[in-house]
Amino acid sequence: MRGRLAEYVRSFRLPFVPWLWKAHLYAIAGLALFIPMQIYLGNIRIPPLINGMAWQPKAKAQSTAPVNSEGQPFFSDGVTQRRPVPGTIPREYSVYPYQVAVYGVDEARNLAGQNLFNPLSPTIENLRMGERVFDTYCQPCHGYKGLADGSAVGPGRLAAPNSLHSDIARGYKDGHIFHIVTVGQNKMPSYAWPLNALQRWAAVHHVRVLQRAVNPLPGDLPGTSALSTQAGTTESLSIAPVPEEGTSEP
Ligand code: HEC
Repeated sequence: MRGRLAEYVRSFRLPFVPWLWKAHLYAIAGLALFIPMQIYLGNIRIPPLINGMAWQPKAKAQSTAPVNSEGQPFFSDGVTQRRPVPGTIPREYSVYPYQVAVYGVDEARNLAGQNLFNPLSPTIENLRMGERVFDTYCQPCHGYKGLADGSAVGPGRLAAPNSLHSDIARGYKDGHIFHIVTVGQNKMPSYAWPLNALQRWAAVHHVRVLQRAVNPLPGDLPGTSALSTQAGTTESLSIAPVPEEGTSEP
């Protein structure tokens, strides 16, 4: 049996039939075009042996496109991410309570002045932070000493603000200054976008430092009153007074 089969295979010669050869050639050529085209059109699916990454169901962030290979969306509403719960806010973001849009300009400012208090104690670190913030973000308009002579103000540049040493500015409550820095005031823009709340409170401290350097409270300067001998009164705020313009500086 085995011998005859082997004999047949050995002696087999494919008869040369011209039209049969041509038909085979055309069939092979046709399949060589047809199969890749069907793969391309998605009618033939290649098992994910080679290209598993491309075939896995996946969601493109914030897209609404169909995502898996069956063309089904990730979630039934077609959105690939869940929507945040109403009222969601970003981390480290706090809603400022005294919005001008809610209370109006004057009422918002008054409420802030009455209800907001500086959460930072005037330690040397916090005062240094305030100085850094002020010298970076406020100095261009208000000047290093609050004299409204910043590097960005002048003819053809920004309009100068008022001096921070006016009686009005010195009379502002801390919360009022925080409010101005947070929501802005007239030509002064809000600084809530680059500065978080603590940095803004630190800047408020530095405004106070500048103001008390020019108009010290009793006890701020050593030897000016009996208060100066008490611990803590001069230590945290010991800075030299700003000289009157043109008096001591060349
Ligand atoms: C782009 C310039 C500019 C910058 C920067 C700026 N301010 Fe002002 N600021 C002004 C102007 C202008 C006014 C006056 C607004 C008005 O007319 O009511 C003002 C007003 C103020 C007032 C009220 C003064 C008053 O007499 O009513 C305070 C306090 C103040 N700024 C603090 C700051 C602090 C703190 C910063 C830094 C975080 C800062 N400003 C950054 C321009 C600026």
